[in-house]
Amino acid sequence: MSRTVYYTGTSLDGFIATADHSLDWLVTRDNDADGPLGYNPFIANIGALAMGASTYQWLLDNAPGEPWPYDKPAWVFTHRVFPARGDGADVRFIQDPVEVVHKQMVEAAAGKDVWVVGGGDLAGQFADHGLLDEIVVSIAPVTLGSGAPLLPRKLELKLAELAQNGEFAAARYEVVRA
Ligand SMILES: NC(=O)c1ccc[n+]([C@@H]2O[C@H](COP(=O)([O-])OP(=O)(O)OC[C@H]3O[C@@H](n4cnc5c(N)ncnc54)[C@H](OP(=O)(O)O)[C@@H]3O)[C@@H](O)[C@H]2O)c1
Repeated sequence: MSRTVYYTGTSLDGFIATADHSLDWLVTRDNDADGPLGYNPFIANIGALAMGASTYQWLLDNAPGEPWPYDKPAWVFTHRVFPARGDGADVRFIQDPVEVVHKQMVEAAAGKDVWVVGGGDLAGQFADHGLLDEIVVSIAPVTLGSGAPLLPRKLELKLAELAQNGEFAAARYEVVRA
């Protein structure tokens, strides 16, 4: 059965980017993509993904000219008008309600999991509708003091897995539903 997972890197004090959208504090660190809760086994079981406009803009800004990194359908929640992609990547710009998009994502994922890439409020919107099953965080050994929040909601969680991966503390939580 398809699970909906918010999988992200975070600072110890709960920010996924600096206020000016830098990830330099994250992407430079030692991490084994094949290791515990690593990216490679995670992405292998993902069939659809969703992100907000700032996250999409970060990808445009930080990988100019590079191919779109995902080979699964992606939904970008936005009110902005982004340039049309000329590379044939399956990227859908939408403003539809999260619960409507989630149905489409689960269908497209065909039994694989759904990845909420971020940001934190978008993950919160999925949680608001009872649609978030898991949160997997790789916690970098740094505090940022401010920035884009990991998940600006109150959610009850159950720790399901805990590991060290390189410089990171990696944890998988299940969302506890009332
Ligand atoms: N550490 C990590 O692993 C990680 C992972 C993901 C992202 N990030 C970074 O974290 C930052 C996240 O930025 P952010 O907090 O601004 O979040 P974001 O979700 O990337 O972008 C927020 C924007 O998405 C649009 N949006 C969100 N929900 C919507 C909805 N229901 N309908 C239509 N549009 C919607 C809105 O933009 P408009 O209304 O202006 O279109 C909103 O301002 C970025 O810098 C990103 O690169 C880091």
